[in-house]
Amino acid sequence: MSEVKKKIEKLRSELERHNRLYYIEDNPEISDYEFDEMLKELEDLERENPEFADENSPTKRVGGDVTKNFETVEHEFPMMSLSNSYSKDEISEFIARIDKNIGGDTEYVCELKYDGVAISVRYNNGRFERAVTRGDGQKGDDVSNNVRTIKSLPLNLLPDTGYPEVFEIRGEIMLTRSRFEMLNEELAKKGEKPYANPRNTASGTLKLQDSKVVAKRGLDCFLYSVNAGSPVAENHFESVQKAKKWGFKVPPKEKNRIKVCRHIDEIMDFINYWDTERLNLDFDIDGVVIKVNSYDKQEELGSTAKSPRWAIAYKYKAEETKTILQDIKFQVGRTGAVTPVAQLKPVELAGTVVKRASLHNADVIANLDVRLGDTVFVEKGGEIIPKITAVDKQQRPDDAEPFEFAAQCPECGTELVRKEGEAVHFCPNETGCPPQILGKIQHFISRNAMDIEGLGQETVVQLHNAGLIKGIADLYELKKEDVLPLERMAEKSANNLIKGVEESKNKPFEKVLFGMGIRYVGATVAKRLATHFKDINRLAQASLDELESAPEIGTVIAKSVHEFFRNEEYLEMVERLKSHGLQFEVVEEEGVSSKLEGKKIVISGVFHQVSRSEAKKLIEKHGGTNTGSVSGSTDYLVAGENMGPAKREKAEKLNVKVISEDEFLKMIED
Ligand code: IVH
Repeated sequence: MSEVKKKIEKLRSELERHNRLYYIEDNPEISDYEFDEMLKELEDLERENPEFADENSPTKRVGGDVTKNFETVEHEFPMMSLSNSYSKDEISEFIARIDKNIGGDTEYVCELKYDGVAISVRYNNGRFERAVTRGDGQKGDDVSNNVRTIKSLPLNLLPDTGYPEVFEIRGEIMLTRSRFEMLNEELAKKGEKPYANPRNTASGTLKLQDSKVVAKRGLDCFLYSVNAGSPVAENHFESVQKAKKWGFKVPPKEKNRIKVCRHIDEIMDFINYWDTERLNLDFDIDGVVIKVNSYDKQEELGSTAKSPRWAIAYKYKAEETKTILQDIKFQVGRTGAVTPVAQLKPVELAGTVVKRASLHNADVIANLDVRLGDTVFVEKGGEIIPKITAVDKQQRPDDAEPFEFAAQCPECGTELVRKEGEAVHFCPNETGCPPQILGKIQHFISRNAMDIEGLGQETVVQLHNAGLIKGIADLYELKKEDVLPLERMAEKSANNLIKGVEESKNKPFEKVLFGMGIRYVGATVAKRLATHFKDINRLAQASLDELESAPEIGTVIAKSVHEFFRNEEYLEMVERLKSHGLQFEVVEEEGVSSKLEGKKIVISGVFHQVSRSEAKKLIEKHGGTNTGSVSGSTDYLVAGENMGPAKREKAEKLNVKVISEDEFLKMIED
């Protein structure tokens, strides 16, 4: 090794050590000045010897790389959310349910619920590889350049500490309160508007293009779980302790920020302790998370589509304030649903000024008996838009009348309808009501649907206002000459728009189907319908019975799809889209079959020929559904090595067939 390279490596590891001592262990050995001098020396050497560049060098912590567009990447393990509750009784019920299902000696881990932005960071051979935001849980944005600047997150793990070759560590990107205040002081000095709160600032910072600016903001990262192909320990708590050995900053158990609890009383103590103690933290938490400790038990409990059954968050009551309801306006969404929105006398709440609150529907208004001029209690929980929780009737003006929900659509004047048993009012003028038309086009081009490059939501508004598009099919008839006269539309953007629209013709059928905006047909349902019916003709002609007997399609969805394809205007739209060459049938991917059609399969334990996530993909590719826990409707339990005995017992009791990895792979062989 050349002398220069040796020197560079020595500086890098020394700087990393001091970085760790300062940011993770809170025990610095050298002054900031000495640190900066060393860093400068390394920067000089790296500049003079670009052949030794390393994206994980401590010099990268100051940023420099600019990300124009964050790349969307798929999570190997989906990022789920947590079910949550504000009620201690519900927490007790959760514990009782689990104890009943899997035995009373269950251990729980209590942790803080950090109020920041979720992140998943992958390490490969001990080196930081990439950091991805939660996104929709399946896919997120690659924000690696920005996350590399976070000094409390190691770029290289401590050697020989036994970390797995590849793993993901998850946590929350945060901005500490002290850092937040410092930033606001700087803004105030410059006479600029302050940031609203640490969470939003952290989230905005993470999405900045220039990592140099990100580095200056000084984000932090608090970790809470390790995900590897096969578990790194028997339980969650142990794996967090291991992560600490590898060089991560994890919640300190000596400060009671993570605790193994064996009894509901200990859990309640933890909740109560942090309810007051949280005010003394230098960061925001919005609750406490309670997790089943054992990975075997976690697996046995499984998950619902959204959240694991082995964890729950207890949320502290949100901040509350009072203000006056000045008006209720009605908003019409893309599906025609009419939402009442409270217009409030502006009031400060949890660091932001609140002017509006959602009232959801007519039932909510009636139950609250909220009237114009009332003084109302407003609360801000996890949601962006605050809620009205109650009315202070003592302060009601004498002339306040019960509030009447709009009878006509505020946008197009059509008589509103409210179907029996439903809480929501709809404007039935689906194809003639402006916000519905606009909303449908905006939905069609959105990221999870057709994701048309070169065409943004604002441009759709411009195109619509200019009378150039009245429906999604019109997009395919746009010409460059049509769009060029629009404001802020240069030659290049016009070309990109036309090109993006053209390229969207290759998007798969399921995306087109989702994009068409059939009520109740979300991305997952669109995929199920596409897989089952294969092409639009069969779907359009399917009877109600046929629709309902498709796997996992319920009556409400079946009815909505059936109705959609009996509406002349929609049929005409489909015909036009067809004539423009959009994809209206499933293009069979290689290795796809229906060998597991309709089968519910649980996988468990460690696999050797395929990874667990590959096994999951294989199940789906062959038409099956991968579910989290064994139940009466499970068809197979694929047992990998070291599968917990409880799972096997449960399967045997319920007569679920237990097969090996080999047997599973044989089933789907050609
Ligand atoms: S565990 C499958 N632990 O809360 C559950 N999440 O709704 C995985 N969060 O987006 C999450 N603190 O970013 C877990 N100690 C903690 C957490 C935590 C904050 C966030 C997380 C997620 C959201 C769940």
